[in-house]
Amino acid sequence: MNSIIEQLNNRFGEALIAAFGKEFAKIDSLLFPASNPKFGDYQSNIALSLAKQLGQQPRAIAQQLIENLNVADLCEKPEIAGAGFINLTLKPSYLETQIGKIQKDPRLGIEKAKYPQKELVDFSSPNIAKEMHVGHLRSTIIGDCIARILEFRGHDVLRLNHIGDWGTQFGMLIAYLKEVCPEALITADALDLGDLVTFYKQAKIRFDEDEAFQEIARKEVVKLQAGAEDSLRAWQLLCEQSRREFQVIYDLLDIQITERGESFYNPLLPGIVEDLDKQGLLVEDAGAKCVFLEGFTNKEGQPLPLIVQKSDGGYNYATTDLAALKYRVRQDNVQRIIYVTDVGQSNHFAQVFQVAKRAGFLPDNVKVVHVPFGLVLGEGGKKLKTRSGDTIKLKDLLDEAIAGARKELAQRLADENRQETEEFINNVSRVIGISAVKYADLSQNRNSNYIFSYAKMLDRKGNTAPYLLYAYARVQSISRKDNINFEQLAGDAKIILEHETELALAKYLLQSTEIISNVERDLLPNRLCEYLYELSQKFNKFYEFCPVLQSDEPARTSRLILCDLTARTLKLGLSLLGIPVLERM
Ligand code: ARG
Repeated sequence: MNSIIEQLNNRFGEALIAAFGKEFAKIDSLLFPASNPKFGDYQSNIALSLAKQLGQQPRAIAQQLIENLNVADLCEKPEIAGAGFINLTLKPSYLETQIGKIQKDPRLGIEKAKYPQKELVDFSSPNIAKEMHVGHLRSTIIGDCIARILEFRGHDVLRLNHIGDWGTQFGMLIAYLKEVCPEALITADALDLGDLVTFYKQAKIRFDEDEAFQEIARKEVVKLQAGAEDSLRAWQLLCEQSRREFQVIYDLLDIQITERGESFYNPLLPGIVEDLDKQGLLVEDAGAKCVFLEGFTNKEGQPLPLIVQKSDGGYNYATTDLAALKYRVRQDNVQRIIYVTDVGQSNHFAQVFQVAKRAGFLPDNVKVVHVPFGLVLGEGGKKLKTRSGDTIKLKDLLDEAIAGARKELAQRLADENRQETEEFINNVSRVIGISAVKYADLSQNRNSNYIFSYAKMLDRKGNTAPYLLYAYARVQSISRKDNINFEQLAGDAKIILEHETELALAKYLLQSTEIISNVERDLLPNRLCEYLYELSQKFNKFYEFCPVLQSDEPARTSRLILCDLTARTLKLGLSLLGIPVLERM
């Protein structure tokens, strides 16, 4: 089903041609949802924007346009307001038919993309032997949401975990473990990630202080890169230990992702440097091989280099990203690559994209997008830390959210004098806790920093996951009250939209398709959150003013259908955010 705005746009397109000629085809009709109900439902500024070009008064242009605007099936008579705005109000009869249509559609009228693509989302991507931190949590939550939306729109999505599993740090770590905990290099369960992180920090200190140790560490890197069997085995064990820990987080968050870490591209790195050389892009600078960038300069205004091979022969993060990009374009045949990382990596990606383009790795028909996000801050706007000042472990952070949800639930059960099974309590606390964390992240414009607050994200009255989960459960309780099976509501039932709140809810329900395509275009999940939040509020208003179970037929069934559609829209929308619903909570 075309979104309402799409249909109106088409009609405007026809009117423009009819009124002013073919050269006005394909002009944007500048149609937006009206900011205030007194301007109707949609408003267009097109007449104002054409005034200069046509040499006419905007109101006169608007008049000619509405004379040619054929929208009688959708809207009341269009009106001209103010300087020449065109206001459109949707007809209840039209809304009734549309609501009837989406009720029968499992996708609620949300279309699939006209041109499905192969898309790649590079997200999460923590580093081996280091703790997965809140930045990775944001990447995981945002990346998963974007992947879910693209999948729902019918794209073929490759979800990739570009973990940091290669590099000189492994030489250092292996050298250190050989000294202090050799069993970690030969047995699978000797360490957990916490120990590994501690050893990593100690190894780093040792490395910085002790020249003899540096030499040993370097030899270990060379051995590993040459593929010595015991080194590879040690490396694999270290990766295995980190992976187990990452998986705990992915399981809690319900994340599907395929690991293809940096090491995967290792054999391709020398070829990348050769390619750059062949393209005449490679320059030697103080022993390092690099490409000078266009548009990136240092303080003195000299062009900055992107180093692709260090003077010791080692490759770096950027070289790997160039190899990954080339591989993804040529071997994975993707049409778009989306990278979800913190905003601090914006320059890195801009540079990699530029070099890839100049080297011919990135053809015009493949798009690359960096989807940046801001920092996660603690209360008070400072870096997020534990009370004792340590960095917070993700597992602890999620567990604390679940514990907060459990506490709130226990209080509620006591207040309402309810008995529930342990299983119910566990499940509800887990869903609320995890969803609260996800929603708190997704509901912010990802470009800004956000302040992490358990109290805020668990607040049932705010713009939070618990609020939306309640709205959903509330609708389900309506059906339970009268043993109504929403799925069996007559498919051909008459929809009647009369009350103002009923009309407002119906119009809003019909906007979901538009919202999803906007989110897909701008990759901004917060728009979907806003939509779901406002939908719940519109539903609550409707429920306050329009009796449902107590009203007579045919209003009763029509209103039940609005309830059902609200619940289904919430469920679908939440699922795209990676949040499951609860039938009862
Ligand atoms: N491992 C990196 C980090 O922790 C993120 C990798 C992002 N993806 C990429 N293709 N560079 O910062």
